[in-house]
Amino acid sequence: MYKQKSLFITFEGIEGSGKSYQSKKLFKKIKKMGLRVIKTREPGGTINAERIRKIILTDYFDSKNTEKFDKYTDTLLYLAARNEHIKNKIKKSIFKKNIVICDRFIDSTFAYQVYGKGVDSKLINIAHKYILGSIKPDLTFILKTKISKALKRLKKRKTKNRYDKFSKSFYVKVQAAFIKIAKQNKKRCIIIDNSNDDITTEQKIFNKFLKVLNELKKKILVKKLYKQKINYVYMGIQNILIHFLNFLLVKNYQILY
Ligand code: TMP
Repeated sequence: MYKQKSLFITFEGIEGSGKSYQSKKLFKKIKKMGLRVIKTREPGGTINAERIRKIILTDYFDSKNTEKFDKYTDTLLYLAARNEHIKNKIKKSIFKKNIVICDRFIDSTFAYQVYGKGVDSKLINIAHKYILGSIKPDLTFILKTKISKALKRLKKRKTKNRYDKFSKSFYVKVQAAFIKIAKQNKKRCIIIDNSNDDITTEQKIFNKFLKVLNELKKKILVKKLYKQKINYVYMGIQNILIHFLNFLLVKNYQILY
């Protein structure tokens, strides 16, 4: 029987790329398979991280506030929320061998803050050294979409979004950054074009997930077989030694008598 192992899956992309919808779909499918899975998001995911999220988003939307957060304040808040999220939710879930699906993670910080706003990546890399530990996504879906399509999707939403605050060119830049990140991390990232609202996106995501899950199962099996092989070799050596000792004992016995 397959003993479930943890798998950390992230979804990335600009607002309106469909990542939240697709992450929910994948979550439901994995649950249906009978596997332990949780769905979470960044910024947020825990009580304190959600409190930090509120501070960040209030700053975006408060039109009366003329004193906006500096880009480094903004970055540090995202990192603070991530620290809370990792320490209180992600680490624990991974330790319990759950599959974790996270709507946005580290790539958003590089795409929005570094490429989008010009924040020095050194700050993020140093903070990540302390925050992430051994936590890193196993699989990342980067959802790309036509900017006009993203706008259409966002117009349908009841809640306000940051499209009102950021320019179109900003999102073009951020989306290009996501693609660049994906190309630099080919082993972990897969780019999925979600410009057309069709079922193929869902299928592509699920197929990729199944492929990664099967690879993980294979790895576990190979490890098990390797351990067994070592055990056999060890037992073989033990047998040879026992025979050799027996042989010596018999020889000594023959010499003595
Ligand atoms: P959401 O609308 O997808 O929940 O994302 C919230 C906003 O936070 C979105 O505009 C992207 C932004 N964000 C960053 O700028 N940096 C980050 O590190 C994260 C996680 C999100």
